[in-house]
Amino acid sequence: MANEKTSFFSHETLEKNIGLMIICSILVVMFAGLVQIVPLFFQHSTTKPTAGVEPYDAIRLMGRDLYIREGCVGCHSQQIRMLRAEVQRYGPYSVAGESVFDHPFLWGSKRTGPDLARVGERYSDDWHRIHLRNPRAVVPESNMPGYPWLAATPVQSNDIGDRMRALRMLGVPYTDAQISAAPEALKGKTEEDALIAYLQGLGTGARKAAQAQSLKTGGQ
Ligand code: HEC
Repeated sequence: MANEKTSFFSHETLEKNIGLMIICSILVVMFAGLVQIVPLFFQHSTTKPTAGVEPYDAIRLMGRDLYIREGCVGCHSQQIRMLRAEVQRYGPYSVAGESVFDHPFLWGSKRTGPDLARVGERYSDDWHRIHLRNPRAVVPESNMPGYPWLAATPVQSNDIGDRMRALRMLGVPYTDAQISAAPEALKGKTEEDALIAYLQGLGTGARKAAQAQSLKTGGQ
């Protein structure tokens, strides 16, 4: 056996040569990764908005940017998983088409607080105002920090056009008319107003479309 020559292309070469094994393993994993990732750029379910999902209007867009600035994503996820317990607690599980206008995504991975993907319209604006200023005023055991300065700070309106144009370059279909009307929509609003407008819109578009659909099909 010892003098029997094995071909270079046999599996044995790979098994006996750890360097080659590592390189080939990396190539296989890279290829498998591409097979999983590349189609996502072309599938309609990940690139087209779910029915009812619209681009953020000016005030919600500012609210979203404040959500990022204040680090809310560090304690709150925005993705409901396909588990019975999650669906019962938060509502229908999240689908990719609901996030096509989100650049960047705010799915998050840490849940110190509850998931917020469908928090829209669950509470009144006034509840949010009290909660954002001092969470313990409505939830005594809460360890969420208060954000009282949001109510006292006017929302910045001078660069909203640039923010919308940047998103348009990434594929969000804002029209010129929407962009030129945006600064006016922010006039007299506080950062708290913007953040609450954003929170109240979370998950509502897709939910309404799903409800309309189920009415049409008789709940099927
Ligand atoms: C240190 C972690 C932490 C941070 C940061 C944080 N939260 Fe919370 N949040 C919580 C916890 C814990 C709760 C549950 C108790 C309560 O309702 O206050 C909560 C609850 C909430 C709720 C109510 C959700 C529900 O379904 O009852 C909303 C809305 C909310 N947070 C929004 C925000 C926003 C907006 C920000 C950023 C400005 C933020 N949170 C930052 C921890 C956090």
